[in-house]
Amino acid sequence: MTARDREELLNDRYGDQPKPKQMIWNDHVERLLAHRSVRNFLSEPLPEGALETLVAAAQSASASSNLHQWSVVAVSDPEIKAQLAELSYSGSVGSKATYINEAPVVLLWVADTSRNHEISTNGGGSTEVYDYLDAFLMASIDTALAAQNAATAAESIGLGVCFLGVMRNQSAKVAELIGLPKYAYVTFGMCIGIPDPVRPSGVRPRPRQDVVLHHNSYNSERPTGWLEDYEKAFLQFRELLGMKQKTWAGSVRFATTMPYMDGRENLRDAVEERGYLLR
Ligand SMILES: Cc1cc2nc3c(=O)[nH]c(=O)nc-3n(C[C@H](O)[C@H](O)[C@H](O)COP(=O)(O)O)c2cc1C
Repeated sequence: MTARDREELLNDRYGDQPKPKQMIWNDHVERLLAHRSVRNFLSEPLPEGALETLVAAAQSASASSNLHQWSVVAVSDPEIKAQLAELSYSGSVGSKATYINEAPVVLLWVADTSRNHEISTNGGGSTEVYDYLDAFLMASIDTALAAQNAATAAESIGLGVCFLGVMRNQSAKVAELIGLPKYAYVTFGMCIGIPDPVRPSGVRPRPRQDVVLHHNSYNSERPTGWLEDYEKAFLQFRELLGMKQKTWAGSVRFATTMPYMDGRENLRDAVEERGYLLR
């Protein structure tokens, strides 16, 4: 990549907002900065060896206490994908994630303490920790780290991904569909496939760095004008991609209303049903 390409990456990521001045560039950093979610795929299957590569990358992520508390279910059966698309939407504001059908593979990332629960039970050990919120959170965190490693690996071999939090909208039904044991639940899904060049996605801007980076202690005074500046970058991005105009603050406000949850307000019940008491 040329210096100009790298400058372009920063322009895409921050728009006209202040940009980091002292980047240490390499191929990996370039790839991370070029990330964009992909929802339009070619109908081709994943290349030979792609799934194994992604899982090896995922397994190379750090893991709390080396406990290996996640699994991944790779769904390529069109009928199961169609059912997942149906389950992505409970009928609230919004729509079904139909791109699930387009992706050759949907990965369901499972926070999975079922193996270790078995090991403890078989060894006559206590399983009390599974009653506590931390056990649930730890498995969820490890699952997300593994999935992000897989996403980065996927992008490095020319694939595109889109995470699917909507797989929690009807969590109990998704678990039933894929035959999940107790002490396991789908944290999120991930569409994966070859991006369609005719329907490309773009690099979504993020707020300038001093909004998220604090030194030594949290600074509650937000940088002056940051929201207005971010709104401009957000608007420019949407304009460029021909998307319907809306403000980012509007999205934040919608995301704090109940219709946004679209079924996830029942998640605690579904998770408790899976065996976690969340104490
Ligand atoms: C945990 C997680 C869940 C997500 N769930 C969905 C989803 O259900 N549907 C969707 O279209 N995008 C989903 N996304 C993608 C985000 O909308 C996207 O990452 C965000 O808008 C930033 O865009 P970018 O990834 O292109 O930079 C999810 C992202 C994450 C990290």
